[in-house]
Amino acid sequence: MASLIFSVFIFLLVLSTGSAQLLGLLSSLYYALSCPAAIPTIKDYGCDGSVLLDDTESFTGEKTAFGNANSLRGFELIDNIKAKLEEICPGIVSCSDILTLAARDATVALGGPTWTVPLGRKDSTTASLSDANSNLPPPSSNLSDLITIFSNKGFTKQEMVTLSGAHTVGLARCVTFRSRIYNETNIDPTYAASKQGVCPSAGGDNNLTPLDQSTTSFDNAYFTDLVNLKGLLHSDQELFNNGSTDSQVKSYSLNQKAFFSDFTNAMVKMGNLESPAGFIQEVRTNCRKVNGS
Ligand code: HEM
Ligand SMILES: *[C@@H]1O[C@H](CO)[C@@H](O)[C@H](O)[C@H]1NC(C)=O
Ligand SMILES: *[C@@H]1O[C@H](CO)[C@@H](O)[C@H](O)[C@H]1NC(C)=O
Ligand SMILES: *[C@@H]1O[C@H](CO)[C@@H](O)[C@H](O)[C@H]1NC(C)=O
Repeated sequence: MASLIFSVFIFLLVLSTGSAQLLGLLSSLYYALSCPAAIPTIKDYGCDGSVLLDDTESFTGEKTAFGNANSLRGFELIDNIKAKLEEICPGIVSCSDILTLAARDATVALGGPTWTVPLGRKDSTTASLSDANSNLPPPSSNLSDLITIFSNKGFTKQEMVTLSGAHTVGLARCVTFRSRIYNETNIDPTYAASKQGVCPSAGGDNNLTPLDQSTTSFDNAYFTDLVNLKGLLHSDQELFNNGSTDSQVKSYSLNQKAFFSDFTNAMVKMGNLESPAGFIQEVRTNCRKVNGS
C-alpha cells in the first residue's frame, strides 16, 4: 500500500495548486490550530507499517492481474482517510496534503528517510485524481526525454535521478516493461528470463512485478539494480546506460545515505513547487472530484 500512496503522490504535482503557497505560507504547522488531529489521523490510517508491508507483500512478484485494482486500492485508502478527516474537521484538510503526508509516512514505514512536509497546498478545481495517471512520463522515455520532462517542472537532472529512486518500492504492469525484457540488450539475461516468466510476449498486460529487487524496503537497491543491468523499465535503465547520469547512479548504489539525504531534499522541493498562478483552488470534499461536480 505504501507504494500505491507513493505513486499517487506524484500525481499531486500536476493536480494541485496552492493559494497558501502563492502567498508563501506553506508550512509544516499549517493545521496546528485548524485541525491538530490531521497528521496523526493520516498516519494511523494508511500508514501503519505492518499494514503497508502486508499489502505490498501480497502483491509481490506474482502473476496477479490487479493493475487497475492496484491503483484503485490506493485511491480507496485516500478516500477513507479523507472521510475520517471530513468527520473531525470538515473542509479543512486538502487532498493534496493528505497525499503528501501519506507518501512521507509510507516511505518511513518501509525503512526510508523522513522529512518535514510543507502543508497548506490546496486542490485544483480542474483535474481529477484518476486523470492524473496520464501525466506520468511514459516508460519508453529516453534519458533526454526524462531530463526535459523534469526540467519543465523545475528539477535538475540530478534531482530527476534522485526522485527515480522512488522505484525502490512498488510494482509495474507487464505492458510497461514487455518490450524491454524481450527486445533490449542492455539487460541481465537471467533477469530478463525471470521477468519473461511473469510477463508473456502477448497477453497478461496487467501482470505485476516489483520495480526493484527489494520492493518492500525503501533503500538504494534500485540503483544497485541499474548498475547490474536489472532496471525493469526502459526509462529506469536509461539512467545507467553509458550516459551522463551513470556516475550518480553508481554513487547511490554505494552510498545509501547520500541517496536518502538527496531524496528528502528533492521531496521537500516537490512539495513546495510553484503552481500555475491564478488558478482557483479549494479543499475538496471528495478527493476524486472537484466540489460541486
Ligand atoms: C523518471 C520518470 C518516471 C517514469 C518514466 C515512471 C514510470 C513508472 C511506471 C511506468 C510505473 C508502473 C505503473 C504501472 O504499471 O501502471 C511506475 C510505478 C511507480 N512509480 Fe514511477 N516513474 C517515474 C518517476 C517516478 C517518481 C519521481 C516517483 C515518486 C517520487 C515514482 C513513483 C512510482 C511508484 C511508487 C510506483 C509503483 C506504483 C505501484 O506499486 O502501484 N515514479 N512508474
Ligand atoms: C529520445 O526520444 C525522443 C522521442 O521520445 C527522440 O525524439 C530523441 O531523438 C531521443 N533522443 C535520443 C538521444 O535518443
Ligand atoms: C520486439 O521487436 C520485434 C522487431 O522489432 C517486434 O516485432 C516485436 O513485437 C518486439 N517484441 C516486443 C515484446 O516488444
Ligand atoms: C556501455 O558501453 C560498453 C562498452 O561499449 C558496453 O559493453 C556496455 O554494454 C554499454 N552499456 C552499459 C549499460 O554499460
